[in-house]
Amino acid sequence: MRTLIIYYSETGATEVISQVLAHYLNADLVQIHDMKPRSGFKNKLSASFDAFRENKTEIYPPTIDLTNYDLVYIGTPVWASKPTPSIITIIDSLNLQGKDVILFATMSNKGGSSTIERMDEKVRARGGRVIESFTVKTKDKGSNQLIRDAESIIEILDLKIYK
Ligand SMILES: Cc1cc2nc3c(=O)[nH]c(=O)nc-3n(C[C@H](O)[C@H](O)[C@H](O)COP(=O)(O)O)c2cc1C
Repeated sequence: MRTLIIYYSETGATEVISQVLAHYLNADLVQIHDMKPRSGFKNKLSASFDAFRENKTEIYPPTIDLTNYDLVYIGTPVWASKPTPSIITIIDSLNLQGKDVILFATMSNKGGSSTIERMDEKVRARGGRVIESFTVKTKDKGSNQLIRDAESIIEILDLKIYK
């Protein structure tokens, strides 16, 4: 079974989780880039607004060919209790017919379940089957702690069985 991990990360936490998953699950990784500037106070306010409104954004790559993959992970930071605009945009470009999907979200401390719920609705609407999901709290955690968190999620959810 070939696995792909699609993620967006602004400050690196979702990236660390994605890299640990890719390492242990022997998966390919694709990082989505948002062409709209998102750092700095003013941009963060508009980022929250865009996420809350589910505004689309310009992304790179604009879409991904999933032909060679059976299992697709999609990971996002939580913004205003929603997936990021870049993740909303990429999901809406994917052909997920017949694909198994695992969703994950990283957050300071809340909004993870509403984020997963919204991604779940969008993935199902595109023909994907959500088989698992998880959230990770990232507040005040360095890379080493995030790596340990990802390793324990892989064990607890038995993610290696989908390899
Ligand atoms: C614009 C913006 C909105 C955010 N909104 C939330 C939120 O609603 N709930 C929360 O717990 N964390 C929120 N956060 C914190 C991020 O979800 C958290 O730091 C996440 O792990 C960042 O992932 P990243 O390092 O991969 O970008 C927000 C961060 C930003 C920049």
